[in-house]
Amino acid sequence: MSETATTKGTAAGTKGLEGIIAANSEICFIDGKEGRLLYEGYNIHELADKSSFEEICYLLWNGRLPKRDELEKLDRQLRVERAIYPEVLAFLRAVPKNAVPMTVLRTAVSMLALYDPDAEDMTPEANLRKAIRLTAQTSTILCAFHRMRNGLEPIAPNADLAHAANFLYMLRGTEPNEVEARCVDLILILHADHSLNASTFAGRVIASTLADMHSAATGAIGGLKGPLHGGANQRVLETLAEIGDVSRVEKYVKDLLAKGGKVMGFGHRVYKVEDPRAMHLRDWAKSLAERTGNSKWYDMSVEMERIVKEEKQISVNVDFYSATVQLCLGIPADLFTCIFAASRMAGWTAHVIEQQKHNRLIRPLAEYTGPAERPYVPIEQRG
Ligand code: COA
Repeated sequence: MSETATTKGTAAGTKGLEGIIAANSEICFIDGKEGRLLYEGYNIHELADKSSFEEICYLLWNGRLPKRDELEKLDRQLRVERAIYPEVLAFLRAVPKNAVPMTVLRTAVSMLALYDPDAEDMTPEANLRKAIRLTAQTSTILCAFHRMRNGLEPIAPNADLAHAANFLYMLRGTEPNEVEARCVDLILILHADHSLNASTFAGRVIASTLADMHSAATGAIGGLKGPLHGGANQRVLETLAEIGDVSRVEKYVKDLLAKGGKVMGFGHRVYKVEDPRAMHLRDWAKSLAERTGNSKWYDMSVEMERIVKEEKQISVNVDFYSATVQLCLGIPADLFTCIFAASRMAGWTAHVIEQQKHNRLIRPLAEYTGPAERPYVPIEQRG
């Protein structure tokens, strides 16, 4: 009751906290009306064309672009920290082969805390070391699990390869060509942060209790898993597979919309125009389709985009074309959201560092809509 008494305003107009500013942050700026996205003041289009995932990590964790020696140092640290603890590897070997990869990732990332020497150290220096380890090791975890669920041995990280190239190497066992490595690098850049999205908010709430970074990262992975957030990219591919052919797209989409269903990979809480990350993935989806000679998924995606725009005036988000791109790279659909997590780990950890720098417990109110106070009825008198 005390909450009702102190509640100002009403939640009725803010379902899902739409439009509510819940934190100050210097990390990421989104202009949903103009379709602009900046990391620490740098436009995502410029970063997509000119930067690397390692440089983005530095930018998010330090608030500025690195000098050459600073980037080289971080790159070395990320390479050194890629190997995972034997106990985590043993866990990955033991989990059921049909386990949902995001569930495995969530549990394994939580496990990393058991062996991290800095686990309970919340100083900025320790948080940065943990951010590096978590970002380096998330990719290793998901590649190791993927190989072992297929009866293959995990591949040790290759310190001669940059982050994106090493990821594909650990996944497939062969070194990728430059185009493939650049494409994964771009996926990692585009997903690295996105302001106070659901998973980052979850992570910041956990960090605000002064819980450790691994707890925040684990909670954030749970938040990302759902189909309304990071789980959408996998659902996009499942939808395309279900439709099966470009000739069937129109009927499928119209039937789905007529039933009030949602088309995965479309719409966004913040963007009222196209998500600025989507054009890079659309371009890559087209060029990979041409390179591989398999344009089926790209053609279906283009047709789907046309119809959803026509019917609902809703634009694609980051998840739509990322599905086709990852498929063209030979990545299995159920790993798409894990790759999103492997990239977003850089953003989540940056937000934990920022939250704990100027911390105040995040503890909002609920608008109470339950019954008024009433007497307790003994069990034998209840009707
Ligand atoms: N397909 C069809 N209609 C959609 C839609 C979609 N993907 N996304 C939004 N809409 C429609 C809703 O049906 C609703 O229409 P109405 O006003 O006629 O009822 C309107 O747009 C507002 O949608 P709402 O769900 O209230 O928006 P939201 O801000 O709560 O949700 C998302 C944002 C992202 C959850 C939502 O767009 C969605 O579910 N998209 C699909 C999942 C997805 O791609 N998620 C990844 C996000 S990066």
